[in-house]
Amino acid sequence: MPSPPSQPRPLASATGAPATGTPAGAPTPGMADGVRPVTFESVREHPRVKTYVRAADAALAEIGYTEHGERHVGLVAHIAYNVLKRLGHGDRPAELAAIAGYLHDIGNAVNRDHHAQTGAVMAMQLLREFGMPDEEILPVIAAIGNHHENDGDPVNDLAAALILADKSDVHRTRVRNPDMIKFDIHDRVNYAVEKSFLNVDEDQKHITLELTLDPAISHMMEYFEIFMTRMLAARKAAKHLGATFGLQVNGNRLV
Ligand SMILES: [Fe+2]
Ligand SMILES: [Fe+2]
Repeated sequence: MPSPPSQPRPLASATGAPATGTPAGAPTPGMADGVRPVTFESVREHPRVKTYVRAADAALAEIGYTEHGERHVGLVAHIAYNVLKRLGHGDRPAELAAIAGYLHDIGNAVNRDHHAQTGAVMAMQLLREFGMPDEEILPVIAAIGNHHENDGDPVNDLAAALILADKSDVHRTRVRNPDMIKFDIHDRVNYAVEKSFLNVDEDQKHITLELTLDPAISHMMEYFEIFMTRMLAARKAAKHLGATFGLQVNGNRLV
């Protein structure tokens, strides 16, 4: 049950209100009596998780990547939760998607390459230590290990929600150094996005990424140049959840 990230939240799923999930400490359906589920808050607030998330972001800052820290993973957790809830999934699967969202980029603390798979193994170790049962750990780490568009697939519902949430986070607040936008296409495209919103229409089973892009900074072709693979991954993820995916830029429906 992710609460809103502490920093400005430029992108949210369509529910508006902060998501709610299984109350802390409440038994999860299907779990043995007396076993307390590992909650989203307990994961987010754990000192080791904070250390890992910050180390991952610091490593990416060193090599010139956009922001991948608490703002990004908090937002991804929030959106992944809402995607599943809006499409009619239960509280606990949605909360597990949020946990996967919060931990999905910790592998960057080791290396950017194969960070999804590295992060999955790191998350397994953390969640096992927190007392999460294997039947919950496995879908979470499968989601983390498959979140990257180049070598991941929506192998389960959590993975599909995580892919949609992660690929949606494009926004100017992710650019660390706006002075550099003239030189780096990733920074320029991110900086051009003034508003982004993942709209989940539960009746139509349609998910739309709505972007407001400043054409003076980056034109549409640049956006497509670097985001086509991500959009295809989002479409595949939506299909796994029984939904269609579309992209809307400055009010124009593109796909
Ligand atoms: Fe990632
Ligand atoms: Fe990410």
